[in-house]
This record gives sequence, C-alpha cells and structure tokens, in this order.
Amino acid sequence: MKSVCVIGLGYIGLPTASLFANAGFKVKGVDAKEHVVEMVNSGRNHIQEVGLRTMVEAAISSGQLSASLEPACSDAFIIAVPTPFGPNKEPDLSHVFAAARKIIPLLEVGNLVVVESTVPPGTTEKVAEVIAAERPDLVADPARPVASLQVHVAHCPERVLPGRILKELVENDRVIGGLNAESTECAVDLYKRIVSGTIYSTDATTAEMVKLSENTFRDVNISLVNELAIICEKLGISVWEVIELANKHPRVKMLTPGPGVGGHCIAVDPWFIVSEFPEDSNLIKAARLRNDAMPALVVERVKKLVAGIASPVIACLGASYKGNVGDARNSPAIEIYEKLLALYGEKGEVRINDMYVDEKDLPLVSLREVIEKADLVLVLVDHFEYRALDPLEIAKKVRRKVVFDTRNTLNHERWRAAGFAVHVLGSGVRATAPKG
Ligand SMILES: NC(=O)c1ccc[n+]([C@@H]2O[C@H](COP(=O)([O-])OP(=O)(O)OC[C@H]3O[C@@H](n4cnc5c(N)ncnc54)[C@H](O)[C@@H]3O)[C@@H](O)[C@H]2O)c1
Repeated sequence: MKSVCVIGLGYIGLPTASLFANAGFKVKGVDAKEHVVEMVNSGRNHIQEVGLRTMVEAAISSGQLSASLEPACSDAFIIAVPTPFGPNKEPDLSHVFAAARKIIPLLEVGNLVVVESTVPPGTTEKVAEVIAAERPDLVADPARPVASLQVHVAHCPERVLPGRILKELVENDRVIGGLNAESTECAVDLYKRIVSGTIYSTDATTAEMVKLSENTFRDVNISLVNELAIICEKLGISVWEVIELANKHPRVKMLTPGPGVGGHCIAVDPWFIVSEFPEDSNLIKAARLRNDAMPALVVERVKKLVAGIASPVIACLGASYKGNVGDARNSPAIEIYEKLLALYGEKGEVRINDMYVDEKDLPLVSLREVIEKADLVLVLVDHFEYRALDPLEIAKKVRRKVVFDTRNTLNHERWRAAGFAVHVLGSGVRATAPKG
C-alpha cells in the first residue's frame, strides 16, 4: 500500500494523516470544513496538540500530504469523523455513513476501508453492507454480499489521550478487527507502518466492543468515586483520604472524583452500549447519570457558598474537560459556568478563565480579570497554572477569601495560610470532632 485517504481531519484524523505522510505514504486528507482544508494545506494545524504543528508542516512541505474537500482514489481509506449522540443519547452515525458514501464510488478491488471512529457494535459490518449494496461490481457472490466483498473492511479504534496524541498514536498497543481474516491482516499491515506498540488482531465487532468497554470501564469507575465523594461529604470526611488509603490495598486502584466527565469519548461512548442494550446495561446507565449529575451538584454547593451575598462575583478557573488541554467538548466546567451564569449573571457576575481553550462562543478573560474582586474562586480544571497560583497574591485581589476546589488540585495548606476558607469537592466538615 502506498496511498491513504483520511476522512475527517480532527483530533484523530489530522495526526493520523500526518503520521502516514511522514512515513512515506501519499496522503489525501479530507474534511467537510473549508477552513480546515485551507489551514492544513498551508501547513498549519487547526487543533492544538503537542508536536502537531511540526508534523503537519513537514507532511505538507514534503508534498506527501494534501487536503481537500473531496476524497481521491487511494489504496486505503480511513474514516475518522465524529460519532456524537443524538437528543435521546442514541448514536449519531450520520457522519460515518456520509463519509462512507463519499468514498464508495472510488473503491477498487483490493482497497482497504478502516473505520477509526468509535462506533457501536455492528457498525463496521453495516459500512460493508452499504458498500456491497452500492457497488455490486465489488461483490463476488451476490448470495453472500458482505462475505464476498472484494474490498477489505476493518475497525481500528483509537485510545489516545489529548495532549499526548502523537506519542500515543505511535506507542500505544492497538486492537484491529476486520470483517474477515484477510481484512484484519490488511489493516494490521497498514498500521504496522506507523505503530510501534503491539497490534492485536480480532474481529470487527470485538474491536468495536473493546473500545466501548475501555471508556465504559473508566466512566463506571469515575462514577463510583463520585458517589463516594457525595457520601464522604455527608459523613464529614475526605474522599481523597479514603481513596488514598483504600489504594494501599494491593488490588484496589480507585480513580479520581471531579465535577463531571466530559470530552468526546468517556461521556459519550457508554451510551452506545446503553442505547443498543437498554435492558442489560443498568449499571452503565446509572454510572453515566451519576457523572452527568455532578455539575448540578457543584452548583448546589456554590449556591451555599455565596448565599447571603447580594451580587456575588464568581471566578471560574478552567473551561476544558480536563487539565492541561484545550479540548472543551462536553466540558462539565462549561456546564457549571453556564448554570451559574443563569443563576447569577444578572444580579452578580460569573467569569471564566482558561489559558488552553480557544472558544469563540465563550467570553474567556485573563487570570487577572477573573479573580478581580471575586467572592468565590471556583477551581474547575486542574491545569498546572492553577496549581502554581500564589494564594498570597490572589488574596490581595479578591473580595472574599473563599475557594472551592472541585479537583483537589491546590495546595490547601498554603491557601489556608493565606487566609482562605478552603472547600474541596468530596470533603465534608465533621459536625463533631472524631473520637480519640
Ligand atoms: N479526540 C480523541 O481523543 C479521540 C480518542 C479516541 C477516539 N476518538 C474517536 O475518533 C473519532 C473522531 O474524533 P475527533 O476527536 O478526531 O473528532 P473531531 O471533531 O476533532 O474531527 C472530526 C473532523 O471530521 C470532519 N467531518 C465530519 N463529517 C465529515 C464528512 N462527512 N466528511 C469529511 N469530514 C467530515 C469535521 O469537520 C472535523 O474536522 C470519533 O469517533 C471519536 O469518538 C477520539
């Protein structure tokens, strides 16, 4: 294989296209958005990711990568378009099938089609069914259209972490599942050219379920510690101490509570299982609902912390869905900010800062502006910059020295020493002193 066409030049598609281009493939990157195509063709990246700019520049200047609104004939096609959920949390696969329909007229015998987007079980097979239905010339036996399709079709899910995408695309182990053994082998051969981690072969449905299971595992485990955080608050103890001590058990590894779960994966993918198997996924659904309820819980605590202030000024620190990245998709921080804005936007002021996020629709302000005369410093994201804040300096600028740390990220001793009342998510105040 010498040429690859990558459909969707986002967080996954653009790094993947650049890696293949820099590995010597002729790569056509395709995106539905004109500005994305223009930026990539001028050697610039439209998403912020460590090392990506250099990779895109190199791929474009070598002539190995070019971007376009339309796909071109290639040996392999990789679909890396979004897979959000719809209004009832059902998977929205419209982008996947729109991308598939664009490449179907270009397919030739022996080509490979890879679904890299995260999809519900059975989707890769449905893509093959659409190919077989629209291109009977690629079907060897009309009685078995998918089985006899002369195009290879496989699923190759991603498990990268924003902020480390380029490193993890190469180094992480991968799972690849084809519709048949030849499809799997063909896709493994392609990915071997850019992946240094181990590639595990399986079938397409297993590969789809592996990806969904990974994110569901994290979601369920986060919901567990979030639930414990609520219980510990009521008990007047710290969930952080409980987790630290519980994790001394050799076979316990609890995750970290927080103000909610966001991003394009963990907050979305478990619904793909729930929507297909509603009767059998009570635990997964309960976990999703628990995590989705966290922003409202944070807002309830904020209401108590600003009760009695006529025009409260609230300084929200952080907008992204996790620390040290600019990705704000499905961010609980933004949900909390918007809920607070609805409550206090008129009679008070709610401001938001994030040094990583670049969102046109969000009125982000500088760190200096966000805390000016604030009645509450509300830490929503564990960016390094917030951890490094000097509470003595902040104390000079705020109106009331109250901080609510929903990520347990600040050095609370230093903030207390600077005169702040420190409140931490999952940490309750004991009504009476413990005995002994
Ligand atoms: N971002 C992550 O960290 C991550 C990790 C693992 C898996 N995934 C999965 O990878 C897939 C892609 O995610 P992403 O984060 O790269 O999305 P993204 O939103 O960053 O990028 C998707 C790109 O596809 C383009 N697009 C949409 N429909 C198109 C079409 N029909 N033709 C051409 N271009 C089209 C969009 O304009 C956009 O630029 C999703 O299924 C996601 O769940 C993402």
